[in-house]
Amino acid sequence: MYYIGIDLGTSAVKLILMEADGNIINSVSKEYPLYFPHPGWSEQKPEDWKEAVFAGLMDLVSGFDASMVAGISFGGQMHGLVVLDEKDDVIRPAILWNDGRTQKETDYLNNEIGKDVLSAETANIAFAGFTAPKILWMKEHEPENFAKIKKICLPKDYIAYLLSGVFSTDYSDASGMLLLDVKNKKWSKRMLEICGIDESMLPKLYESYEVTGVIKPEIAEMFGFTKNVKVIAGAGDNAAAAVGTGVVGDGGCNISLGTSGTVFISSKKFAVDENNALHAFDHADGNYHLMGCMLSAASCNKWWMEEILRTKDYGQEQRDIVVEGNHSESKKSILGENPVFFLPYLMGERSPHNNPNARGAFIGLSMDTSREEMTQAVLEGVAFGLKDCVEIARGLGIPLTKTRICGGGAKSALWRTIIANVMNLEVERITSEEGPGSGAAMLAAVGCGEYASVEEAAASIVRILDTEKPDPVLVEKYEKKYRQFKTLYPACKPVFDVIIN
Ligand code: XUL
Repeated sequence: MYYIGIDLGTSAVKLILMEADGNIINSVSKEYPLYFPHPGWSEQKPEDWKEAVFAGLMDLVSGFDASMVAGISFGGQMHGLVVLDEKDDVIRPAILWNDGRTQKETDYLNNEIGKDVLSAETANIAFAGFTAPKILWMKEHEPENFAKIKKICLPKDYIAYLLSGVFSTDYSDASGMLLLDVKNKKWSKRMLEICGIDESMLPKLYESYEVTGVIKPEIAEMFGFTKNVKVIAGAGDNAAAAVGTGVVGDGGCNISLGTSGTVFISSKKFAVDENNALHAFDHADGNYHLMGCMLSAASCNKWWMEEILRTKDYGQEQRDIVVEGNHSESKKSILGENPVFFLPYLMGERSPHNNPNARGAFIGLSMDTSREEMTQAVLEGVAFGLKDCVEIARGLGIPLTKTRICGGGAKSALWRTIIANVMNLEVERITSEEGPGSGAAMLAAVGCGEYASVEEAAASIVRILDTEKPDPVLVEKYEKKYRQFKTLYPACKPVFDVIIN
């Protein structure tokens, strides 16, 4: 039988057609626009997702026997606010995970309601990109839209609703709404009250691998599916990616270098970082995870390459960045010795700074700064930002020595080397490059009974392709650079506050 994984990302939807043994037989990607209507705001149109998903599904099964499809599941960009009216029409564009408009609402939740209350109710505090502050923003700034709300859902759940007619979500994605009691896996009545919404507006909760319904007959017909195709709840994209890279059960780590950058640590025990710098969320395997999220990761490099250097040849730009010893000509750039630093806060920052006003910066430029050094600084700045999260986890006593890696940025061997040495972690790449998409297809296979559990599916499907080991000399050089990097955000913070307001 075949299983479909739909990963509703920020730049595109990626769809995977997978056989029961994990073999991926087709994959399709369809892009859609991202809108920045004001500095720091970030929106997408759910109608664009719908169009891309339907066109993508058509391409995905073309040339294959669609009647072999047994189940469909999802990974999706988290935290996005999708609101529907009484006719199930979309009320306004979705407000995304990297939108920074809710500083006031976030401050209200953290300072007036109080971090203690939020943490007791949800295991988390408020961050600008989370869903609850956006609901409060809508209530204050768009009362006429707020009054029309009949359903509130997350991006992937909107697509699942279109396909199955079942209004559902899963615990991993719901964790990022700041409405879920993560430990006890139920909506927090207190948080709903604070946001002025009713439980009837929220989707029904499922484990990520549970069947929520079957595909609508008219949609089955459209794609040549049988009427029995099961729809499985799916997961937030980071939990789906972790399933796809085999980071399930206890103590695994996955780094995702996508539009966002995340450090994801799986755990069988529920635990909260007492400073709430890392998110404490449910995992798609039925357990829990801790996660740090940078708002701009591979997107920093994309911005630098495509908007500034005006090239799409990433490999060419990285060719002359070398490890010392391989450095034969002048005007190149050496790992661990870069005098230039980059602050990767192009959309503000979530973990660990929780500051929508933070901005990007190059620091340390001189007349002989080279293009390569600036390119390297961008890659290193993202790695240092991720290390901030890794260090918080280590500070909690989690012994991290290796990580899996996925996402577009993970295709760069140079970036993997930088990550391994900045963080002093062995970096394992797995054979499938499609983190959340293959994780979603695996959840579909579990939901349809191909595997007894998510852990069993991961053990039988996920294979390591290669491992990048840290080099002690480079690790030491990067340790020094990281200490320097750590001084830059506190020094720039007052400047960010002045230039933003
Ligand atoms: C996680 C987060 C991002 C989005 C990106 O908390 O906000 O990783 O899920 O798709």
